[in-house]
Amino acid sequence: MATISAFPKQDRKEGPGTNEIVEKRELAKNIYLIKVASPEIARKAKAGQFVVLRVVEEGERIPLTLYDWDPKDGTISLVFQEVGKTTKLLAGMRAGDRILNLVGPLGLPSHIERFGRVVCIGGGVGVPAVYPIARAMKFAGNEVISIIGARTAGLLILEEEMRSVSDRLIVTTDDGSKGRKGFVTDALKDLLKSGLRVDRVVAVGPAVMMKFVAETTRPYGVKTIVSLNSIMLDATGMCGACRVSVGGKTKFTCVDGPEFDGHEVDFDLLLDRLNQYVEEERRIASMDC
Ligand SMILES: Cc1cc2nc3c(=O)[nH]c(=O)nc-3n(C[C@H](O)[C@H](O)[C@H](O)COP(=O)(O)OP(=O)(O)OC[C@H]3O[C@@H](n4cnc5c(N)ncnc54)[C@H](O)[C@@H]3O)c2cc1C
Ligand code: FES
Repeated sequence: MATISAFPKQDRKEGPGTNEIVEKRELAKNIYLIKVASPEIARKAKAGQFVVLRVVEEGERIPLTLYDWDPKDGTISLVFQEVGKTTKLLAGMRAGDRILNLVGPLGLPSHIERFGRVVCIGGGVGVPAVYPIARAMKFAGNEVISIIGARTAGLLILEEEMRSVSDRLIVTTDDGSKGRKGFVTDALKDLLKSGLRVDRVVAVGPAVMMKFVAETTRPYGVKTIVSLNSIMLDATGMCGACRVSVGGKTKFTCVDGPEFDGHEVDFDLLLDRLNQYVEEERRIASMDC
């Protein structure tokens, strides 16, 4: 039976058009990978950067981290979790549909150099964001130990991809259904307590996870970089929606970040701001798309 998509199709004779979804896969329940034709972004992308996209004319703009890119075939890959209205719309799109606007790459690239031994930590949909960072760290000559975690085995994503860019991969699940039972911070604690020298930690995941990663490394004095997921509106540094406090100074995640020194971030303020719109988002998400 023929299916009709609600989203614009590219008007073309051959090859994918800009912003066209060329591949879509469900990696785990409500977590999707989309590969999108975007030659300009694919050419300029660097680890740690993100894009902002809009699905429909009257829709909001949402930021998503660049998981992968291929300058040769002009595509970028994004991984997102369906949480509210816009990600639900995106999850409803199929190969051949076109994303209305896609802007990027945005944000400052990760600081990559040969530090020595780097621990890369990803929690939930933070895993796709830490993947290109781990890959770049490995390419720069670091020994990379990665720790990835999820609530349960079924929600664990990109394990093989992370293994391929790491010297060692540690998997954790909250319920013990795969790997070490516990949080990513428990595995990190084990590493640090074992006396292994760690030169840098990079963590991407829920704000509360990044807060506890920073608290775990603080007593050991290991520089810890986190990628903040503040609420964003314009992503130009003009509206102030993404402001965070780092080292007592106001910073804008979209232009000064998204990566900051985890020991300097005021996580309690960030968590307060993330929770500020929960009720409103829930109301909007419950309305028809
Ligand atoms: C720089 C950056 C990179 C990001 N990269 C990714 C990514 O690669 N993959 C991915 O799945 N998500 C990523 N996010 C989060 C993503 O932008 C939000 O999930 C998305 O905006 C939600 O939009 P929505 O309309 O579907 O949900 P909404 O209805 O707007 O929100 C639903 C619920 O999701 C949560 N939420 C909303 N915005 C955020 C946010 N910015 N951070 C954390 N939770 C939020 C809130 O609890 C909210 O109640 C990123 C955020 C930032 C700032
Ligand atoms: S999103 Fe508007 S200043 Fe960053």
